[in-house]
Amino acid sequence: MANMSIAQPSLRDHLKALEDQELLFRITKPVNPKYEAAALIKQAAKLKKAILFEKILASDHQAVANVVGSREMISIGLGLSSTDLLPELSNRIRSEFKTRLVKTGPVQEEVSDDPDLSKIPILSYFERDAAPYITAGTVVAKDPDSGFRNASFNRMMLKSSGKLGIRMMPPQHLGIIQSKSESKERQLDVAVVLGNHPAEMLASASTLPFGVDHLDYAGRLRGERLETVKCKTVDLEVPANAELVIEGEIEARVREEEGPFGEFMDYYVEKGSNHVLKVKSITHRSDYIFQALLCGSPEDLSILALSREMAVYTALKSGDFDVTDVSLMPFIFNAAFSMKKRFDGEPKNALLAAFGAYSWLKYCVAVDDDVNVQDLADVWWALATRSDPDRGLVHISEAMGFPRKDKLEIHRGKLGVDATVPMARREEFQRKKIPESEKVVLENYL
Ligand SMILES: Cc1cc2nc3c(=O)[nH]c(=O)nc-3n(C[C@H](O)[C@H](O)[C@H](O)COP(=O)(O)O)c2cc1C
Repeated sequence: MANMSIAQPSLRDHLKALEDQELLFRITKPVNPKYEAAALIKQAAKLKKAILFEKILASDHQAVANVVGSREMISIGLGLSSTDLLPELSNRIRSEFKTRLVKTGPVQEEVSDDPDLSKIPILSYFERDAAPYITAGTVVAKDPDSGFRNASFNRMMLKSSGKLGIRMMPPQHLGIIQSKSESKERQLDVAVVLGNHPAEMLASASTLPFGVDHLDYAGRLRGERLETVKCKTVDLEVPANAELVIEGEIEARVREEEGPFGEFMDYYVEKGSNHVLKVKSITHRSDYIFQALLCGSPEDLSILALSREMAVYTALKSGDFDVTDVSLMPFIFNAAFSMKKRFDGEPKNALLAAFGAYSWLKYCVAVDDDVNVQDLADVWWALATRSDPDRGLVHISEAMGFPRKDKLEIHRGKLGVDATVPMARREEFQRKKIPESEKVVLENYL
């Protein structure tokens, strides 16, 4: 791969690491940005591999997707082991790293004063999508009161060569920040970053307490200070090693039609009246790689899952529960966590803490630490052989869930299941084992 950075690890270094581990498909045939690329991304995601399109029709630039399509791929990006990811990450985020401002960075190799979005190979994904959409862009904005920097994923519809439709609604923090600016009749400066390293992707998918700076947090996830550069036309900083940045502003009190769009729940969000981003400048690497993301794919769900698994894991640990792992896959409204319980009622307390830590959570299962929560079959096995539907349930009605207005009545109840073995009967529930089976490897017999 050309021009690999030797400075702070970038998306390119991550792609190289994936390729070295045979976790990247390289497509040399020309691919149509309308639907064809999306169909290929879907298949690559199923095979748990990233996909790099060397030739997108009518574009001079490459495109890439599914770069964090599994827990393993995220671990590779962060240089951590996938088995101990949660404890290792929660150690990392205890650091105090702030970003480090540098004078120049690859993301500003070229600055275009006459920005034209139509030159970027933005993909069209689903049949009813209103237009091509930017889906892997992380939107950086500053809170007008405290100045902390928020970064979040927001879908963006291509409206014209200088304009994007963008969806940002409170309680999402970008929506809160924008409404604060709007109440003072001010536009909000934003920078949309594409071609992010996995740490910045994970930081942008995380819902942190309001006021925690997402770029500082990305550095903590990396285990070193994140290097940033000043934007050219807005008062913001962005990761110096990214691929491309769209600088612009969200005008106060301007809304236009946006959508429909095929989003993460596998449905379409219908046309709505949403915000508008006016582009001021585009900066990029000379040979930038456009970053795409298939909404609802394992990539989308894996980063959302890991950021929220961290929230649940940290809350359970600080509640003094001996939690060993958490999984929100394959879909982020449902979770399973494993724990070493010390009292029979404890898993129910832990279930309540998990619901408190992550409001979108709907169904949650507590299992013993001999169950692998990363393996859905193992969780179903524990439910089938260890839970008691008469006594093991925690049902909370009318609680807040996923906060989209048109689906509120579906996402409000919560159900927790204690699928742990009664303390007094542990002997009887020991899992069976073939002696020394780890020493017997099938490959050696073929
Ligand atoms: C690929 C992707 C696209 C997303 N698109 C949107 C969106 O269009 N609007 C939105 O409000 N949230 C969207 N989200 C969710 C937010 O980015 C996410 O909830 C983030 O945690 C927001 O955190 P914050 O409220 O702290 O800013 C998206 C997430 C991902 C991973």
